[in-house]
Amino acid sequence: TAALVLNGPNLNLLGTREPGVYGHATLADVEADCLATGRELGLDVECRQSNFEGELVEWVQEAGRRQADGELVGVVLNAGAYTHTSIALADAVSGSGTRVVELHISNVHRREAFRQHSYLSPVAAGVIVGLGVAGYPLALRALTLLAAQELR
Ligand code: DQA
Repeated sequence: TAALVLNGPNLNLLGTREPGVYGHATLADVEADCLATGRELGLDVECRQSNFEGELVEWVQEAGRRQADGELVGVVLNAGAYTHTSIALADAVSGSGTRVVELHISNVHRREAFRQHSYLSPVAAGVIVGLGVAGYPLALRALTLLAAQELR
């Protein structure tokens, strides 16, 4: 079984981007950590990053098809700023039927007002927020648990 870890816009800059907010770990560090957790959980973890909304939409649609085939437990989705803007991405999540754990490295609730609304939260199975990059392996564990209970 597989799981997708999808990172959206500007997350390729992790490590150098506002380290006071996002920490010093790079995207490569995060992805290595996800792969290690996958090995522990027996999950084939696939990590992707895009700065393009439509590409994220296509990946979420792909996840829906693969989950329907019983080949995928779901998606860990850090959509970056698209979280706060993208009805298209929210529609892809609900339309594809894929299980999503929404993730934010920073605690968006103690930041600017525009970060407090998420189009994704109403269609996500759950949300992990503000735990730094440690949230990623936790999100993979959560996906495994939710899939075992057939929750989304
Ligand atoms: C983020 C929070 C978003 O508000 C921001 O636009 C990001 C990263 C996070 O991981 O904390 O790009 O999703």
